[in-house]
Amino acid sequence: MISVRNVVKEYVVAEGRKIVVLDGVSFNVHEKEFVAVLGPNGCGKSTLLKLLAGFEKAEDGSILVGSTVVSGPSTESTLVFQEPALFEWKTVYENVAFPLKSAGEKDSETVERLLELMNLKEFAGSYPCRLSSGMKQKVSLARALASKARVLLLDEPLAAIDAHSREFLQEEMEKIWLNTNKTAVMVTHDIREALFLADRIIVLTQRPAQVQAIVDVPFPRPRHPSIRFTQEFHSLFAHCWKLLRNEYEKKGEVSWISVQ
Ligand SMILES: Nc1ncnc2c1ncn2[C@@H]1O[C@H](COP(=O)(O)OP(=O)(O)O)[C@@H](O)[C@H]1O
Ligand SMILES: [Mg+2]
Repeated sequence: MISVRNVVKEYVVAEGRKIVVLDGVSFNVHEKEFVAVLGPNGCGKSTLLKLLAGFEKAEDGSILVGSTVVSGPSTESTLVFQEPALFEWKTVYENVAFPLKSAGEKDSETVERLLELMNLKEFAGSYPCRLSSGMKQKVSLARALASKARVLLLDEPLAAIDAHSREFLQEEMEKIWLNTNKTAVMVTHDIREALFLADRIIVLTQRPAQVQAIVDVPFPRPRHPSIRFTQEFHSLFAHCWKLLRNEYEKKGEVSWISVQ
């Protein structure tokens, strides 16, 4: 569904100096797969999602969604940011319905089903200023899920949400995602979140980022909350933690402790 081939991305910073952010990144994402991306701070994870969404252009390499080369934003994919980006002057219902309306459709069933799945039905008529940040982010997610886009790009969508609500939202997200036919790529800092939601985890190196490892996550779906306590979950957590920690060590950020 998504094919990323030898992607190189540079930014021009002060005085015409260039920094290489992505240095030959390649991976595939299969149709209806959920892939998580982990990597050290500032390595280029958000940049990668912006390239996938067509908001940025690569210096080299190619990105395909389906059989189409990504050359700009398209209706094939939708990007959800860390901070909810809602229309403050529209109600919850109108926000979620927005992508359907702009596609010239009246699909109230989809909107109602999403609001129900997200436990937002009683707030359908409320304006965003009346909602908590967790609820706002749920509205952002519902709006992305309501769109016809086949690819869902998520940039740390639950990062601003407290630890308890976050676990419940991960569970709701999995349920809802299973009810759609979407392919998902989610950037996260949280290894447990990646393990709970993803089929595979792509671990990036320090900037300039390359793919360091691709970790298979074998838990059956739908995922039960208690998989978080299994031995396999702990082993995979330790594996990913070491991969990430090694990258920080290379940069000299955690030199006081060595990881075997
Ligand atoms: N528009 C931009 N112009 C210049 N540098 C940028 C721009 N966007 C990101 N960067 C730099 O690229 C690197 C990767 O950024 P980003 O993709 O946001 O990292 P991450 O999401 O992994 O934390 C950082 O060093 C950041 O400062
Ligand atoms: Mg980022």
